[in-house]
Order: sequence, then structure tokens, then C-alpha cells
Amino acid sequence: PRTAAVIPAAGSGVRLGPGAPKALRPLGGTPMLVHAAHAMARARAVVLVVVVAPAAETEAVRSLLDEHPPPPGVDQVVVAGGATRQESVRLGLDALPEDIEAVLVHDAARPLVPVDTVDAVAAAVHAGAPAVVPALPVTDTVKRIAAPTADGAPEPVVATPDRSLLRAVQTPQGFDRATLVKAHDRLVDDAEAAVTDDAGLVERLGVPVVLVPGHEEAFKVTRPLDLVLAEAVLARRRL
Ligand code: C5P
Repeated sequence: PRTAAVIPAAGSGVRLGPGAPKALRPLGGTPMLVHAAHAMARARAVVLVVVVAPAAETEAVRSLLDEHPPPPGVDQVVVAGGATRQESVRLGLDALPEDIEAVLVHDAARPLVPVDTVDAVAAAVHAGAPAVVPALPVTDTVKRIAAPTADGAPEPVVATPDRSLLRAVQTPQGFDRATLVKAHDRLVDDAEAAVTDDAGLVERLGVPVVLVPGHEEAFKVTRPLDLVLAEAVLARRRL
């Protein structure tokens, strides 16, 4: 099935500290977004990469990606993003040509995902799973609280879920295109949603979501320490 990758890259990256939009921060001298786009373009199945850029940076991102073209046989387009991650993904889905049947949604903030992980997600979708998510066991014990408290005040614990039943999910998340579009349509209808990933939307449809093994190097670059780790991983790869 013809497969496209949608890369939401329109976040500001405030948690990373002051500076350019997160996706444009350099990693090994190259913007994170370029790493993420190439990680998708190198996957066997991907014929198109749709990058969803901060609206104010669309032209800049377009010329940046022109400087770093994808391999032959893969197209790369840039569209303007929205105010939330979901809205940005939706705008990316709207840009897909009709003949695309499967979609990988990948955060620009996970620039170092190995191509084998991307291929494994795509393969599971092609084998018939409507929604596929790479995931890893959780190493920290996780506590549930009733609600976040203001500025560092102690937070009462409500529960401690069994860690062996928890998984930390990554991207790319892979989908049958029609299923993902339907899930996003539903979200527009019920705007309450605090959904932080695309598979969560699909779950709300009652469609089964399956997990495949994720990879440590697919971690999300969110805070300053993550950049230190990302630089180290990249340096090790270049040895
Ligand atoms: O904020 P978070 O780390 O969950 O963002 C995940 C991804 O979603 C990032 O790649 C970010 O650029 C993207 N995003 C987006 N549009 C927004 C907010 C976040 O494309 N409005």
C-alpha cells in the first residue's frame, strides 16, 4: 500500500528553553526536523513526507528541506501547522493525495528513530493492523494524582498503577489512512479531548490499537538534557 509520513513540527518547544522553534534546533549541525524527515524518507514503504511547519516558518522550512532533498522516489512537501498537535496532524492529513492508503505520523521531536523501527511499524499496518504504535516498558514507577497543583506544591497520590502493564509510546504511529481520518473527524466533533497521540483518537473509535517494540533512540527531545543525549547518540552513530 502506498504510504506517506506526516511530521507534525509546528510546536514552539518552550520546554527546551529559549530559541528557534524546536524542530529547527540543530542536532549535529542539522535541524532536528531534517533528521526526522530523512528517518521517514529512508523507510522502505514511504513515498511521500508531509512536514507540518510552524505557520510563520513555512517558507523557511521549505527552503531548508530543499537543501536536504529526500532519496529518489520520495516526495517531500511542507504545509502550515495549527495551534495544537492534533490540528497540525489534521492539516498534514488534508494534504495527502488520494492514492495514499497508509500513514505514519512521526514527531519532529523524535529525530533519531532507527529506520528498522519505522519499517516495523509500516509492516504491521501493511499486514492489516489499523493502528500500530511503537512502545517500550516503563522504567520509572508511575503515580496517578487527582489533578496537577500549582507551582511545585505537594501533590496527593491517588494510585500506583502496576508498572508491568504500562508502556511508554513513541512515534511513528502507523495507521490505515481511512481509520486515522475518521478518528480526527470525530475529535473535531467532540472538542473536549485531551489527547496527546493519534492512536488515542483511534482508541476512542473502538478500533483496536496494537503495540510493537519501540527503540531507545526514538526518545523525544523535549528538555535541554534530551539534546545532550541526542548529540551523544548522533556522535556515536557517526563513529
Ligand atoms: O508538544 P509535544 O512534544 O507533544 O509535540 C509533539 C510534536 O508535535 C512536535 O514534533 C511538535 O513540533 C508538534 N506540534 C505541532 N503543532 C503544534 C504543537 C506541537 O506540530 N501546535
